[in-house]
Amino acid sequence: MGITLSGSSLIPGLKSMSQALAPLYAQHIISLRQRADKALTLGGFDHLLIAASMPLRKFLDDQDYVFVANPHFRHWLPLTDAPGSWVVYTPGGKPKLIFVQPHDYWHVVPAAPSGYWVDQFDITTVRTNAEAVALLPQGRRAVIAPECPSIEGVEANNPPAVVNYLHWHRSYKTPYELELMREANRIGARAHRAAEQAFRAGESEFGIQLAYLAAAGQTEAELPYSNIVCLNEHGAVLHYTHFDRTPPQQHRSFLIDAGASKSGYASDITRTHASAGHQEFQALIDSVERAQQGFAAKVQAGQSYSELHIHAHHTLAEVLREHGLIRMSAESAVQSGVSSAFFPHGLGHPIGLQVHDVAGFQVDESGGFIARPEGHPYLRMTRVLEPGMVVTIEPGLYFIDMLLESLRAQPVSNDIDWNKVAALRPYGGIRIEDDVACTDGAPENLTRNAFAALS
Ligand code: GLY
Ligand code: MN
Ligand code: MN
Repeated sequence: MGITLSGSSLIPGLKSMSQALAPLYAQHIISLRQRADKALTLGGFDHLLIAASMPLRKFLDDQDYVFVANPHFRHWLPLTDAPGSWVVYTPGGKPKLIFVQPHDYWHVVPAAPSGYWVDQFDITTVRTNAEAVALLPQGRRAVIAPECPSIEGVEANNPPAVVNYLHWHRSYKTPYELELMREANRIGARAHRAAEQAFRAGESEFGIQLAYLAAAGQTEAELPYSNIVCLNEHGAVLHYTHFDRTPPQQHRSFLIDAGASKSGYASDITRTHASAGHQEFQALIDSVERAQQGFAAKVQAGQSYSELHIHAHHTLAEVLREHGLIRMSAESAVQSGVSSAFFPHGLGHPIGLQVHDVAGFQVDESGGFIARPEGHPYLRMTRVLEPGMVVTIEPGLYFIDMLLESLRAQPVSNDIDWNKVAALRPYGGIRIEDDVACTDGAPENLTRNAFAALS
């Protein structure tokens, strides 16, 4: 994505998003400089060099895979399309951007730096990657870059002491980052509305995807992850990224997990809809939604995310019981693994510069790993919530043949209403996902606020 900013009003009374972002960004850079100072001291380095990184070339080809800039680079700059460029920071000095703008008449070259961020950097524009590398300072350097593809003339070292410190602090979003994430949610909410309309108009999965992209104003490559657009039983495939080109005979249900990007930040949103007249499935959606809202309300400082995940299992098991799918207590459904057959993924994950953001398991700023609760191998976040963190809350209930088959072979099979399961199987599954910021007080639900602002 380019750096052009929409003129949409961000805060009443301010003329443009760019104007609102300028002071927030200045503060953001102060925070990043403080973090970098500490990280470099911890690692024993004099300079922090962050590569935007290079596109990866396809095997035996003259084309590249879609370029995704190093998230550390995007942390400093709202530049998502600047391959070969570098951020250089030396404590005590102004951050530098070595900006590669090639002489190239085959491709669109990155636009010349402009916007709310340029005053915070000393910017040097060069024409080749080699010229950029030649400008990097020598000495004790922490070089934050992917190892592959390598960058000629400079070796990534990604020192753990530096990276762990920076990752830990990436968990705490600055007001600038939160504003971009609010906007990523606004774009996503708008596109979700268009997708729902396309579903209700009887479109195919492919048609719904096109409606989503048009409303978001983003290409597939610009989205933070591949959209999951499921009609009917396809909702049972957790990461269904196939798009049927023809509509099914009947539109029963629609699960869409799709986000949007804003200046390098992601939203991650899932909604599930039933067609009119499918009351039993709609009632189950309503119950999952009520449960999901309860979990989102618990995104509060001091809440263990692992405990919230286990709590979600108990609550969803209760939903299964209330809807007559199981005939056992919630407690025994969780203990026997029945809840995991219907809810086989984690409650959510940190989100920010990456959809599945870093540091979800970290013990402290020096690293470490907080283990997942036993029997929950897909949970992506085990930390205690603190103000500034943003996490997704995305419970689900699914009818997945492979997992249900393994229940059939167990004694608990007698306490499952297989007729109900069979009746609901054609709907695939339910997932409802919001992005929620932990604050000093009540949680801020970025996604719900974005949908509310549409109405
Ligand atoms: N869209 C991927 C996820 O929800 O984690
Ligand atoms: Mn998610
Ligand atoms: Mn998602």
